[in-house]
Amino acid sequence: MPEHITRKDEPSHSRRRFIKSSAAAGLGMALTASTLRGSSASASLQESGGGDQLNIALIGAGAQGRVLIESCLRIPDIRFKAVCDIWEYSQRYAERYLKKYGHEAGVYEDYREMLAREKDLDAVIVASPDGVHAEHANAAMRAGLHVYCEKEMSNSLTKARSMVRTARETNKLLQIGHQRRSNPRYLHAINRLILEHKILGRVTKAYAQWNRAKSDMLGWPRQYTLSADTLAAYGYSSMTAFRNWRWFKKYGGGPIVDLGSHQIDLFSWIFGVLPSTVTASGGTDYYPGREWYDNVMAIYEFETEEGTARALYQVQTMTKHGGFYEVFMGDNGSLVISEVPQLGDWAMREAHAPEWDSLVKEGLLKSETQPIRKVDTTNIFLDVRVTAEAGRWPLPVELAKPAHQPHLENFFDAVRNGTKLNCPPEIGYETAVAVLKVNESIENRRRCTFTPEQFKA
Ligand SMILES: NC(=O)c1ccc[n+]([C@@H]2O[C@H](COP(=O)([O-])OP(=O)(O)OC[C@H]3O[C@@H](n4cnc5c(N)ncnc54)[C@H](O)[C@@H]3O)[C@@H](O)[C@H]2O)c1
Repeated sequence: MPEHITRKDEPSHSRRRFIKSSAAAGLGMALTASTLRGSSASASLQESGGGDQLNIALIGAGAQGRVLIESCLRIPDIRFKAVCDIWEYSQRYAERYLKKYGHEAGVYEDYREMLAREKDLDAVIVASPDGVHAEHANAAMRAGLHVYCEKEMSNSLTKARSMVRTARETNKLLQIGHQRRSNPRYLHAINRLILEHKILGRVTKAYAQWNRAKSDMLGWPRQYTLSADTLAAYGYSSMTAFRNWRWFKKYGGGPIVDLGSHQIDLFSWIFGVLPSTVTASGGTDYYPGREWYDNVMAIYEFETEEGTARALYQVQTMTKHGGFYEVFMGDNGSLVISEVPQLGDWAMREAHAPEWDSLVKEGLLKSETQPIRKVDTTNIFLDVRVTAEAGRWPLPVELAKPAHQPHLENFFDAVRNGTKLNCPPEIGYETAVAVLKVNESIENRRRCTFTPEQFKA
């Protein structure tokens, strides 16, 4: 039996300690804000007329970069100063979009030039392909900037480890983009209902899936074809590899990493410990030409304080059956949740479990959805229909914002005020270890055992 592996608390951050001690010493928030930015950034604070404006840059303005731009534009006092992308198509899109909202951002092809020229930045958002996250995030932190880096932290644990170490060495904040960790619905479901109120009793099983309909490889507008020299300069073997990096071992980790990492990240949060083993099966069964497995099923074991727990995960790329959601199962009930509330947003109580009515009174759950009862008095006919929703206790918390906004807000709050990051690099690294082992288990056709040392960066 492998040693019990406990998820560690977020390590103390010396910069945060400084903020707290400064505040305690009565130095106030003005000093805190300028100290956080470093000397060059504090000049920008003055240039921008004081206030709490943060100047940011984006590296990687593709599909997700644009989603993050949209969320940032909704957050007060965030100003885009620069965008870096090697592809003119993405550069133009981001530049025009930002201009529409009054942000005049410098546009760069090379992040090194951007970091050298843009002197009043506070933070960088990295939304480039996984394989270059470490290069981009490390350079930004070494340039004195805080970083919000998309998941998966990297497709290589060596590179992911280098990011944790750079954050420590430079004392810069590094938030990893597992956005469910800041989603108020997930925080309510996991922290309040499952961990604090223990409404599910002993949680022994988790199940999560992300099923997607079949799709072809991505194309590109022909007039935006990158030259062979440019592709080679940035390490891409072809335009197809550049556009479909997720499916190539050099740049990504395949669907289990791309999609699974969001949900596998939740297992350790729920169980309070890191996994002890994983056994996985998968293959390139549907898209034979692709490098990464197009379908994966994985079983994790967790040695919790209450005994062994297991989590089953599957990702499919040729059927969207059921979509994407997570279920946590205990001896007193289950909870189904998804980033899209229509796919999961309720708890289900076992008949023998303690009553949940008091939770409804406290506003922690909504009332159980009852079956439809129709009484026709003319014909003395009683119709009791059991609807799909019957027996569900809906969650009362809604997210009236785009899904990534709370996670970005948490990051900006950490930069400004020293708020604790919801996904610091140590947690991102632990998740990367748990997820990347799945590919190893498939390749070697064997169960993989984790040791506590493997989760340490
Ligand atoms: N948190 C989420 O829900 C979520 C969702 C989707 C994607 N992501 C993550 O966001 C990142 C980007 O994914 P995407 O779907 O936007 O991919 P994408 O291919 O649409 O965009 C990537 C962009 O990066 C640019 N790029 C590639 N190499 C570069 C380099 N060396 N320097 C600068 N720019 C470079 C490309 O030109 C492109 O514009 C990935 O890490 C992905 O895992 C996260």
